Amino acid sequence: MLFCKGKSYRVPAACIIAFTSMMMTLVYLWTQRHSLQPKITPQEGNLCRGEIANNTITALKDTRTFIIAPYFDDRESKMTRVIGIVHHKEVKDLFCWFCCQPDGEIYISKAEIYVHSDRFGFPYGATDMLCLEPQNCDPNFVSISWAHKGNIGQLPRFEIKNRKVETFPVEFTVCISTMFGNYSNVLQFIQSMEMYKILGVQKVIIYKNSCSQLMEKVLEFYIADGTVEIIPWPITSYLKVSPRWRFMEDGTHIGYYGQITALNDCIYRNMYRSKFVLLNDIDEIILPIKHPHWKIMMSSLQEQNPGAGIFLFENHIFPKTIYASTDIFNITSWNAVPGVNILQHIHREPDRKDVINPKKMIVNPRKVVQTSVHSVLHAYGDSVNVPIDVALVYHCREPLQGKLPKESLIRDTTLWKYNSSLIMNVNKVLQKTVF
Ligand SMILES: *[C@@H]1O[C@H](CO)[C@@H](O)[C@H](O)[C@H]1NC(C)=O
Ligand SMILES: *[C@@H]1O[C@H](CO)[C@@H](O)[C@H](O)[C@H]1NC(C)=O
Ligand SMILES: *[C@@H]1O[C@H](CO)[C@@H](O)[C@H](O)[C@H]1NC(C)=O
Ligand SMILES: *[C@@H]1O[C@H](CO)[C@@H](O)[C@H](O)[C@H]1NC(C)=O
Repeated sequence: MLFCKGKSYRVPAACIIAFTSMMMTLVYLWTQRHSLQPKITPQEGNLCRGEIANNTITALKDTRTFIIAPYFDDRESKMTRVIGIVHHKEVKDLFCWFCCQPDGEIYISKAEIYVHSDRFGFPYGATDMLCLEPQNCDPNFVSISWAHKGNIGQLPRFEIKNRKVETFPVEFTVCISTMFGNYSNVLQFIQSMEMYKILGVQKVIIYKNSCSQLMEKVLEFYIADGTVEIIPWPITSYLKVSPRWRFMEDGTHIGYYGQITALNDCIYRNMYRSKFVLLNDIDEIILPIKHPHWKIMMSSLQEQNPGAGIFLFENHIFPKTIYASTDIFNITSWNAVPGVNILQHIHREPDRKDVINPKKMIVNPRKVVQTSVHSVLHAYGDSVNVPIDVALVYHCREPLQGKLPKESLIRDTTLWKYNSSLIMNVNKVLQKTVF
């Protein structure tokens, strides 16, 4: 009966009765005898029949709420956590409509709405909608509505994921949030993918907004070989996206193609599928210095930091404008492939005074509640800063300190340690895709 206040919601009439203190026990016994759950009897023919939503992003009728996916989360109590995007001011009340099979009894629970704090000024932000689940059934579907009355048959239904727990079929998953802007950096993409594989990845999840046709072909290759899973990310059909992370008063709705929402979805999607999840961009590689690959590195880091769930790696810029000769390698055929050749970029920018290098993460997803890009916002485990003599984020992009001459940069050939397997593997992929 606690459900009547705060977190959860049944029909007001029922709540009033339940809380009339003298009647409380009687009512409880009565409802128990008549099976506790049904508080609303839906109209005949509408039982749990709403159409199943199959898209990654579903707009509710209010057009201020976008649902990505609900996930079962019993780490604190028996809840459904719906990952979505809402307008931070205009969405106030939302209700979860659970449908208990086999009788089709409806249970309505008021959502607690948590817009993530890292909204960076945009009106829309990544949001968790938390709903207590009914105690007496394990619903497989939920509908979300701003109303707590009406016809459930007209609401789309979302499958609640993570109800059946898989036990870590994979060790390492990389989450690439939002491939966008007709992405066509094919050579760097293949090199990053092959480096991830050498370092220990089994799955790479890509939230894809748009890419070039050649890139599409390369993605198909990696989907077929079982490495890549594409999550379509048509956010541009729903919101005005900014290519920047911070709001510039320019009328856009959400930052960086909704990156933060995608990352949070990726954490929950892989919570029980992957022992570790890496959150980095496709132009970034978490590069071990002391160890040959991630598995040995993570065993060592975990041993030294029991209780830690989040490992932070320093980002270092290797400008794509500063070249090293690669004559020692036999890779001239790569000149025909569009994109950056990372083997040519082994000079990193020095640390700047008073500038803290941003971090990228390897996390135990089961210890994460809310994540941002460079840190977690809410977690059950500690965060650990991994020193740069253990690993760094190799980030090949435009320079941040573009005025520095090559001599002022640090020559760092860690990437070249992997030259022979990297070159061999990239050549194999190029043979089957580009050439
Ligand atoms: C989603 O897929 C299911 C099964 O394929 C189908 O029955 C349902 O109609 C689809 N929903 C929508 C909104 O297209
Ligand atoms: C996408 O990029 C490719 C390669 O750079 C280019 O040929 C193509 O015209 C671009 N497509 C669009 C729609 O911009
Ligand atoms: C260079 O690589 C190509 C394949 O990309 C191979 O056919 C050729 O034999 C190699 N040359 C040498 C000198 O290793
Ligand atoms: C390329 O890799 C091999 C081992 O696979 C190594 O012996 C060699 O030193 C590497 N080359 C460079 C230039 O680092």
